[in-house]
Amino acid sequence: MKRVLVWDVPTRLFHWLFATSFAIAWLTSENDQWLSVHTFFGYLMLGLIGFRLIWGVAGGHYARFTSFRYSPMAGLAYLRQVLSGSGTRYLGHNPAGSQAVYLLLALGLAVCITGLFTQGGEEQQGAAAGLMSIAAGRMVKEGHEITAILMLLLVFGHLAGVAVESWLHKENLPRSMVTGIKDAPEDAPASRPYRLTGAMMLVAVTAFGAWWFFYALHHPIEKRLGYGEGVPHVAFVGTKLPDNAQWREECGSCHLAFHPSLLPARSWQRMMAEQEKHFGTDLALDESTSKALLDFMVNNAAEKSAREAAVKINSSIKPEDAPLRITETPYWVKKHQDIAESDWRSAKVKSKVNCGACHQDAEAGTFEDAAMHIPR
Ligand code: HEC
Ligand code: HEC
Repeated sequence: MKRVLVWDVPTRLFHWLFATSFAIAWLTSENDQWLSVHTFFGYLMLGLIGFRLIWGVAGGHYARFTSFRYSPMAGLAYLRQVLSGSGTRYLGHNPAGSQAVYLLLALGLAVCITGLFTQGGEEQQGAAAGLMSIAAGRMVKEGHEITAILMLLLVFGHLAGVAVESWLHKENLPRSMVTGIKDAPEDAPASRPYRLTGAMMLVAVTAFGAWWFFYALHHPIEKRLGYGEGVPHVAFVGTKLPDNAQWREECGSCHLAFHPSLLPARSWQRMMAEQEKHFGTDLALDESTSKALLDFMVNNAAEKSAREAAVKINSSIKPEDAPLRITETPYWVKKHQDIAESDWRSAKVKSKVNCGACHQDAEAGTFEDAAMHIPR
């Protein structure tokens, strides 16, 4: 017997980064507050899978797909052998482990792609922003959740396999995934370490992470969208909402210029028709200004927008109602019912209408989950 290098550096890096990314993405999937961390690791996983596919063709001996080309039947036969306590020892991936590798890569790809389209559809954010409606995004989300659960089950299966194999052949498989080294027969081929590729991979991952955290995450969305300085927050923001200088000037002087996509067209029509008694003030707009503003508001009203807030506000309002307040629409009420009374009264908030106190992107009108922050 001799000691040979089986798992080259890039394969080991891939393995542990992939496992860590999946674990963190799983742990941050419940709460929207962690959405940007969740999506970061999703994008990272996608990049890692891309790398592994290339490495499966161009990598070291044991990393190449040709070195573990077994059929699913061979995988099952191997599992039967193991269950009877007599599995042959393989230096690289065994036939059952190979199936797990292929399935994990395929499921990982499915999870990442459905995640990309969930974010693009439901949140209208990210690389796939604007390619899909919110309703379609929600359907894709079902697939995202199912594939992620399947992947988690497979990870448990993989861990069980590693434990059984380690016990059966009296060797520490997790350790060899760290050191890369295994005991092998004299004639077994060794892999090269490929340290340079591994280093380049680490640099690429770090650069991606640094860009994400220092540029995208901390570069104010308002600044990028052109609404002044803003406050640092979320990365990979989707399409910019329609804007209009005249509307911003006329409707943004007393309060935030509430984006037209936050109420349906009939509400805006009613508001302009009753403009002389606008919440105790008279807007006193001349006819041509009124018409221009109304055109912009009606053309970009809730029913004309694919944004999450617009779609959900609009579907919460009864067809016979034309509310004048966003803060009285059922969706708004539902979304804000759990906020503590003390938070509403705090000096930084004061009023429900002061959306910008808690929504860093209120000016842009996007109301993304990740841009929400109650000041305390
Ligand atoms: C002269 C000041 C003034 C101007 C100009 C003005 N508003 Fe208002 N608006 C108010 C006041 C006051 C309220 C009530 C705020 C409160 O409840 O604290 C209000 C409330 C609103 C609300 C309801 C907010 C909510 O959901 O509770 C909407 C929507 C609104 N305005 C839209 C507009 C639009 C559209 C324009 C431009 C055509 C406009 N406003 C221009 C004074 C103004
Ligand atoms: C005191 C802070 C606060 C103020 C002020 C506030 N919000 Fe919110 N808003 C929240 C919180 C917290 C949530 C998230 C609730 C949740 O996800 O359960 C939220 C959620 C939302 C959502 C849902 C976002 C989504 O992804 O579906 C919309 C839309 C929204 N707010 C619009 C507004 C508008 C418009 C105003 C002003 C008229 C406003 N909010 C004022 C705290 C606030």
